[in-house]
Parts: sequence; C-alpha cells; structure tokens
Amino acid sequence: MVDDNLVNTERRMLKAMLADSSKVWSLSDILTACDWQDQAIAVGAGLGIAEKGYAEVSETVTTEVKLGAQGQLALSEGLLEARLWDWFKSTSEPSMANLQESFERHEAGPGIGLLKKLGVTMDGGSFNCANESDVTETISARQGFLSKLPAVISEVDDDLLNHFKNRRNFVEFVDTTTRTWMLTAEGAQLDSSSLIETTMINEITPELLQSEAWKDADYRRFDVTLESATPRTGRSHPMQSLIERIRHIFLEMGFSEIVEDYVQTAGWNMDALFIPQDHPAREMQDTFYLDNPQTIPLPEDVMEKWSDIHRTGGDTGSTGWGGEFSKETSQKGLLRTHTTVNTIQYLADNPNQPCRMFAVDRVFRKEAIDRTHLPEFHQIEGIIMEEGANLQMLVTTLKTFYAKMGYPEVRVRPAYFPYTEPSLEIEVKWRGKWLELGGAGIFRPEVTEPLGIKHPVLAWGMGLERLAMLVLGLDDIRQLYISDLEWLRNQPLI
Ligand code: PHE
Repeated sequence: MVDDNLVNTERRMLKAMLADSSKVWSLSDILTACDWQDQAIAVGAGLGIAEKGYAEVSETVTTEVKLGAQGQLALSEGLLEARLWDWFKSTSEPSMANLQESFERHEAGPGIGLLKKLGVTMDGGSFNCANESDVTETISARQGFLSKLPAVISEVDDDLLNHFKNRRNFVEFVDTTTRTWMLTAEGAQLDSSSLIETTMINEITPELLQSEAWKDADYRRFDVTLESATPRTGRSHPMQSLIERIRHIFLEMGFSEIVEDYVQTAGWNMDALFIPQDHPAREMQDTFYLDNPQTIPLPEDVMEKWSDIHRTGGDTGSTGWGGEFSKETSQKGLLRTHTTVNTIQYLADNPNQPCRMFAVDRVFRKEAIDRTHLPEFHQIEGIIMEEGANLQMLVTTLKTFYAKMGYPEVRVRPAYFPYTEPSLEIEVKWRGKWLELGGAGIFRPEVTEPLGIKHPVLAWGMGLERLAMLVLGLDDIRQLYISDLEWLRNQPLI
C-alpha cells in the first residue's frame, strides 16, 4: 500500500533509500541517489517522510570557527605582534620613539600592550626581552592557529581560541546542521515498486477544469493546519481606524458629523466661548496665530454681542469680565486650539434646531513635543442641544461612548472651563489607574444667549491621541506618527 499523501520528491527519496534499507544516508548520498542538485529539496523531502513516520532524521550541529575581518587582515598583512617582534629583533635601538616612527598610531598604541603581555619590558624608553624564544614561540603558535581556520571548534586549541575571542573581530562562529536519514521499520516495509512519481496537480486552473485531464489526475494534498507566513497587505493607519471606529459609535448613537476648517478667528475660537481676552491661553505660547491671514473680518453685530457679554454680561444676568473688549483681537487669524470653535459656530447657525453633533478633527497648540504632547493632535468633540438636556444625560452619553470603545469604567470630576457650568473632567480606568481623557460641561448663558439658543447644550472635547495610547498600549504619543512600518504592521485591528 502506498501512501497517497507522499509527494514526488518524497517518493523518490524513499525509493532511493529502499535500495539499502538499513543505511544511514548523508545529504550528499541523498543528492547523488536522487539526482538532485538542490539541498533544500532533499531536506524538504526528508522532513516530509520523517513526519509521515517512514524515516528518522538525526541532526548534529557543529560549530565552525572562522576568521573575522581582523583575523583575515592579520593573515594577509601579518599579525601585529609578529610584525612588532620582527621590528624588535631587527632594530638596533628598540626604543619607544623608534617604535612610534615605524608604526602608525593605531598600531603603536595597542602594540605596546601586546608586547608587554608577551614578556617584553620597558626600561627608560627602550624595550628589553629576557626570554626571546618564548615570545617567538607564542607568536608563531598564534599565527599557526589563524592559518588553520576555518576549522571545527572541537579541533582547535582552546587557549588560543580564548585568546582570539578576546580580540575584536578576529574569530567568528558559524553553526552548521548536518543531517542524516535512516528508514524506520515502517519505511523499510514500503513497496519500492509502488513509489511511482506521478504528475501531481498543485493548482486548479480554469484550463484544467475545462479539459478532461482533471478526472484522472493526482492532487497534491495540503495541510491547512500548518503555520504559514501572514500575508502583508495594505491596511489603514491605526489612527485612521480609530477615527473610523469613533465615527461609527457616534453615528450609531444618533449624532451627525461636523467637518470644518482649522483656520479660524480668535473671536469664534475664544470670544464666543466667553474666554476672557486677557486669558493666558490666548497668548502666543499656546496659540498659533497666523501671518496669513493675519485678520479675518467678522460681522460687526456678532462682535458687538461678544463685547457686551465680555464687558458687562449683556442681558444674561452675568457681570461679564469687565475691562475693554478689542474687536481687533477677535478678528485675528489662528489655527484652532479646540474643535469647540466649530460646534459653537454650528449652534450660531442653527440656534433653534435641537441637535446631536460630533467632530473628530485636528487642533493645534504650541506645545513642546514630548512623551505625552504634540503640537498637532485631534479632539473628539460633541454637543447635544435639546429641551431638558441635563448633566445626568451628559455623563451617561460619555459613559456609553467609552463603554462602546471598551472602557466601561468612567468617572467625572469637577473642573473649570470659562464656557461651561458645571464643568467636568472625564477619567477612564486603564490598567488600574484613572486617566484624564477630556473635558465636558453645559454651556454657560454667556455663550448660548447671545446666539439665541433656548435649550441647554451639553458639550465635551476629548483627546484622541490619549485614547489611542490606551487602545494601543503606548507610553509615548510620538509612536503614533513616526511611520515605523514594523510597528504599524503589528498593530491589532481596531
Ligand atoms: N474645549 C475643551 C478643551 O479643549 C474641552 C471641552 C469641550 C470642555 C467642551 C468643555 C466643553 O480641552
């Protein structure tokens, strides 16, 4: 009975081995008997028949000692101590000064050390040697050692090997595996005449199916449980996948997306949000103000409303911040420092229509780059405006979002933002620690009333990169943007 699973190379190898069923076959025996040139074919077939129980493979690993780069140089140009020794013997005045003249600096330095270790002494600037014959002998033993390489490790002198191991790049070690094959009892019982090489089909093609040939063909069997290389195909950057996932979650929760420009005015980025004009966050160190456009004109009536609110509180019952309000400051161009600049404009355009909006978009702040900061990053922003919207609803919405992201433990803490009251910080538990991921709150009347908004507005803004660090288990935010292909390939699907 012949095993159908045997592929042609295995059949040929078994057939060859059956000619002398108790022989121990070396690789070269197999290559000759099977008429193969390629070692890999023999090793592959050998592995196959061993796995099927017809042969036994024994492997021996031998370590070979080879010359390293320095060793080769020593052999072609002479070992440094040998050349020094020649110099010592042939110079009438073997002095330090003389040595430095005859050898270059990179050789003279280590050379002195080598000579000393061999038993050459230095006395008042000149070299002496009491046992010249010992030195000659040691050096020639070293040369002899190098000239015999490459050699199997068991056949070289241990002391000399240790000596050269301590000198950089003199020797290298290479492991080689030698295999021999022998038939098992089961293999020896195979019927040689049944081991016929057939035309095996590895691949089913349309041509094969159209012809009649498939009917009588032999098919190569594949073991689909074997490990194989993972195909490397293109894939989204983990940040992009994360953004998509967040989008899906908000869309699923009934939100609509806002996508807007990041070039904005200080007015909408800050004044509309009741951030005082002398607030430190507005200074150059936090905000990227633009040279072009340096100013972006805003409607007079809009600025007038902000001015009232900031100076006196307008009709909101607030006392405002007091002081002066500069419309020039409002019209400065900047790169948005938060996505709240866009939600507030959306509300200004749609003050009466209850809504649930979100954005996942890029913001900019003048931050020094470090493990947890980037000057360009993303926020996950959202608002809910509807009758009766309240704090409980805000907290529940955020908890639902994080639970859908896979972080069920969320807590909020009191915080402060000039545009919300109450204001919250959102924290998520990760690996036993509470991590702050963003801010939230209910917009103050100073923000909503000038826009004519009648319903409460719940708002939040959270860091996307922070969340990405949790999802991907990173402790350095920069890893997200350095395009490290190996790292990118190994990221989980998000
Ligand atoms: N805009 C705030 C930030 O950038 C976050 C926030 C948004 C806070 C909305 C309250 C309400 O950190």
